[in-house]
Amino acid sequence: MPTNTSKKLRSQEWWTGQAYENYARRAWLRAEGFPADVFQNKPVIGICNSWSELNNCNAHLRTVAEAVKRGVWAAGGVALEFPTISLGEMFMRPTTMLYRNLMAMDVEESIRANPIDGVVLLCGCDKTTPAQLMGAASADIPAIMVPGGPMLSGNWKDRRLGSGTDGRKLFDLFRTGQLGEEEWAEIEGGLSRSAGHCTVMGTASTMTSLAEAMGMTLTGCANIPAPDSRRLAIAELSGRRAVDLVREDVRPSHIMTPQAFQNAITVDMAIGGSTNAVVHLLAIAGRLGIPLELNDFDRISRRTPWIVNVKPSGEFLMEDFYYAGGLPAVMKEILPLLYGDALTVTGKTIRENLERAECHRREVIRTAAEPLHNEGGTVILYGNLAPDGAVLKQTAATPSLLSHRGRAYVFENYQQMRAEIDREDLPVDENTVLVMKNCGPKGAPGFPEWGHIPMPRALLNRNISDMVRISDARMSGTSFGTVVLHVAPESGVGGPLGVVRTGDEIQLDVPNRRLDLCVPADEIESRLSQFRPAAPQYERGYGRLFLEHVTQANLGCDFDFLRK
Ligand code: FES
Repeated sequence: MPTNTSKKLRSQEWWTGQAYENYARRAWLRAEGFPADVFQNKPVIGICNSWSELNNCNAHLRTVAEAVKRGVWAAGGVALEFPTISLGEMFMRPTTMLYRNLMAMDVEESIRANPIDGVVLLCGCDKTTPAQLMGAASADIPAIMVPGGPMLSGNWKDRRLGSGTDGRKLFDLFRTGQLGEEEWAEIEGGLSRSAGHCTVMGTASTMTSLAEAMGMTLTGCANIPAPDSRRLAIAELSGRRAVDLVREDVRPSHIMTPQAFQNAITVDMAIGGSTNAVVHLLAIAGRLGIPLELNDFDRISRRTPWIVNVKPSGEFLMEDFYYAGGLPAVMKEILPLLYGDALTVTGKTIRENLERAECHRREVIRTAAEPLHNEGGTVILYGNLAPDGAVLKQTAATPSLLSHRGRAYVFENYQQMRAEIDREDLPVDENTVLVMKNCGPKGAPGFPEWGHIPMPRALLNRNISDMVRISDARMSGTSFGTVVLHVAPESGVGGPLGVVRTGDEIQLDVPNRRLDLCVPADEIESRLSQFRPAAPQYERGYGRLFLEHVTQANLGCDFDFLRK
């Protein structure tokens, strides 16, 4: 652990000296109305704000930034807020995942290029959290994260609605005529009732929780609802703490250690976290040169009980989770499975942080002795259909489908799936395995959340609500079902998923972690030899950079030149 340092602050390289540049930099900052003593070796804390009106989840972060500033000034620092691009999950096309690495580069370079000694990271919506952690990891100056928190629970009539999860279920009722236009309009108005991120254990809730599990937030910070006054209070405390982190020279590389990643994966399994956490944790670890692999997730999944009863795997919402004790209660419950000595931004260890944690509601946070499931939420599959791995959220799947053999019905791409999925005469039944190709990092491109292939209308009309679905896409963390994702290598680069034909048999065997195409090996080889890559969908700009450098899902989909 680093100790106090009296070394000259990084920002002083900009301010101190008699050269014209030093004079000009002081003069230009004083244009913002600061007195001359602002330059007297005070830690400059950048507040890295992903606020945007094009990202409703982060739309309250300017208020949060004001609270952070109070803390920074009170602790003797200088607070300077700066913007980065923001990634609004619902609005950006073709997918925010195309731009996660761009935001990470923006964060990293904004930190590196400016006269700041430490940074407070304000995030919320799905990709904004991993992008900030990736950028901060690479810049590696003292950093602390303040997520914006989940929005208020959704409401319709007397029902509480979880974003995405309930929205999709109700939309299936609308698709099949069981809900009318007026009811659907009411649901639209009540699903998202405030700023803040999605209200279930989707990707945003998962990634902010994992930021806390890794020690990058103050204890109990991740799950406070966005409109709750305690969100601003902890933001102010985080601002104060950021100043201390600079004085103590505690950097992300001191916090996000191999042990911290093992803790994050363990917590991910206990909370029934989003499958997207796999990709994001691999990417963040890659920035730090930490050798994390898909097998780490499966190994930890097998030993970690799922104890958090929150949608989409469970029953409750993020507000309930916070009131039940939130992440500290979970981490205390599974402390024997964690590296308790891991250092956090509080200056204390995980174990010390959790001393006062307690659970207030056992329906929401179970004990490790009486879990919802003996294993974690996410499992990793291998087989001749996924030589480099695939991901499935077993806690959101139908148990009877976890060992299943069925004939494939193949969609060559997302567009074909959309065009056919509501056909009354689609030749599928409950045993069919839906396969969708060309939805991976390069094939889509951008690795969109298309993997939750909607249930065919023909089956919904027969009250069949789940079937095995396989693709090289991701899915929203708010989604559910027996859905195999992240198949690697993807079909767009010649992976075996690309040679599946309608009528082939596929074997899903989750207990043995297998995913296989039941076709003779020489036939698979023959089909693979005929692979010809499609013409690139981007020939210039950022899209071209993405296509040329994005890695596959099992490596985290970061750019190859950004990994350490
Ligand atoms: Fe932003 Fe769900 S849309 S967290």
